[in-house]
Amino acid sequence: MIVPADSSFLDRAAEIIRSGGLVAIPTETVYGLGADALNPAACARIFAAKKRPFFDPLIVHISDIEMLKTVVSSVPEKAQRLMDLFWPGPLTFVLPRSAAVPDIATSGLPTVAVRMPAHPAAREIIRRSGTPIAAPSANPFGYISPTTAAHVEAQLGDDVDLIIDGGSCSVGVESTIVSFQESVIRLLRPGGISREDLESAVGEIFTDISSDEAIHAPGMLDSHYAPKARLVLISEDDPVTPSFNSALLSFRKPVQDGFKASEVLSVSGDLSEAAVNLFAAMRRLDESGAEIIYAHRVPEHGLGDAVMNRLRKAAAQRITH
Ligand code: TXA
Ligand code: MG
Repeated sequence: MIVPADSSFLDRAAEIIRSGGLVAIPTETVYGLGADALNPAACARIFAAKKRPFFDPLIVHISDIEMLKTVVSSVPEKAQRLMDLFWPGPLTFVLPRSAAVPDIATSGLPTVAVRMPAHPAAREIIRRSGTPIAAPSANPFGYISPTTAAHVEAQLGDDVDLIIDGGSCSVGVESTIVSFQESVIRLLRPGGISREDLESAVGEIFTDISSDEAIHAPGMLDSHYAPKARLVLISEDDPVTPSFNSALLSFRKPVQDGFKASEVLSVSGDLSEAAVNLFAAMRRLDESGAEIIYAHRVPEHGLGDAVMNRLRKAAAQRITH
């Protein structure tokens, strides 16, 4: 059931979380499927609803910096600097976990992913629950992430106890994930905070994922964020012949006639606007019934990194579905 983010429903959401239930929560990135992060049975319900493999760890969301101490055992100095700059916001830190975090939330890893979201309704639900909330994106595993309450309802409506409507997500792609090992900072997933912004605060950030991390952080699975249609990446200047079984996801060019459906991500070529529109546009094209979606590559800087990362994964051959 979709309900507005008013005070009585925020209380109801908190009650459900405290009693081990599932609440779909608006965040500025995408909608999350939330449960009490410290309750293993509640976390298990997340995996069941999403059909998510247990080896894919969850992100734990906190409402304030006090709560950070509940879930992590230490915070490196550069992580602290990034938290001061970008929290609350779309940045997730992989840090040594505390004993309070159950194995199921971290897939047994010695680290935990933690984020303080900017969306006021998300923080308020966490605060009223009095517990950190584990929340992956509220979509079936491998499918396009939801950026509206209606997207959640369409796919997980029967599996969640409540859906809080906090409007359309203002960032539109998931958080950037960074890990810290000694003095090395690694970018595990590009997202709502650009690499450039992170590097101007703390210097170089590496992207070479060690094989260990690749195994342990299978959000890195090649295929993800995928529509049912086959997605094919093309350049803006590549000629494509429109047809009635194909759709076009254009970066900024006005679309030509003849496609079954088409969407433009940002007429002005603004990469942040493209990120905001990406998942909803992919979803509409998929719902058109087109068999092939041609998608324009976008420049890989700023939020364009995250957009291209999601497009590549959507284009990768499916492993599960
Ligand atoms: O914006 C977001 O981050 C959204 C909203 C709801 O906050 N959440 C989200 O969660 O994108 P999810 O489950 O779709 O992605 C979580 C990813 C995992 O797939 C994994 O790659 C990484 O976070 N992760 C979690 N714990 C980790 C750990 N201990 N070490 C490395 N990566 C981890
Ligand atoms: Mg996800």
